[in-house]
Amino acid sequence: MTTLRLSEMKSRGEKIAMLTSYDYSMAKIVDRAGVDVILVGDSAANVMAGYETTLPITLDMMIYHAASVVRAVERALVVVDMPFGTYQGNSKVALDSAIRIMKETGADAIKLEGGEEILESVERILSAGIPIMGHLGLTPQSIHKFGTYNVRAKEEAEAKKLVRDARLLEKAGCFACVLEKIPADLATRVSRELKMPTIGIGAGSGCDGQVLVIHDMMGINKDFSPRFLRRYADLHTVMTEAVEQYISDVKNVDFPNAQEQY
Ligand code: KIV
Repeated sequence: MTTLRLSEMKSRGEKIAMLTSYDYSMAKIVDRAGVDVILVGDSAANVMAGYETTLPITLDMMIYHAASVVRAVERALVVVDMPFGTYQGNSKVALDSAIRIMKETGADAIKLEGGEEILESVERILSAGIPIMGHLGLTPQSIHKFGTYNVRAKEEAEAKKLVRDARLLEKAGCFACVLEKIPADLATRVSRELKMPTIGIGAGSGCDGQVLVIHDMMGINKDFSPRFLRRYADLHTVMTEAVEQYISDVKNVDFPNAQEQY
């Protein structure tokens, strides 16, 4: 999978399927199942490390997750989130961080949250030949500015800014853009106007692709139930029952049996 192929998929009207992964074993399953893009999201801060927000995850932690994912992947395009604090301030720091991700993980691209306010970093990273996926709408790294995880860009002024930011990211050369938790009509309008593919999460079916956090769609994490989430499995129950059965087997000296020992 390449960024060019994603753009061809959009031209053909073929939808793009993207999922997150953070480790080797999960990425292997996701890749072999045929997903187009694997995002090593900074949602790793939540689902892997147990932080409340995505802000605490570090560049070293993201590199660890991304390198593990890349070792598993044979087909999908691997995109890595740049963590909070590595690109918002200084474009030289942004470029250095992006280069570290590409060099130390072998990933294909990076993702940054924001529009006009991070444009200098976007341009500097792109000029080094590193492909960028944008991320507009609900940008979780700005949670302390928003104050909530509610739907964004419902008001006209914010919707206008989002359209402007999307145009700027496309003009700068981003190859795709995540649209998170915005009204479906707005996401459809932006997706129709842009040449670069849009990948929606809580942004309706008019986007060129969709992304979900793997722990959420697999039902591993039961505490998070936004309206946009469809659960494709109930791994929380499957795993709990398996662990309970194992405990019971150990306590009852049912495991290991004669065939399970040497
Ligand atoms: O970090 C993440 O998983 C993301 C997706 C929700 C788009 O940014």
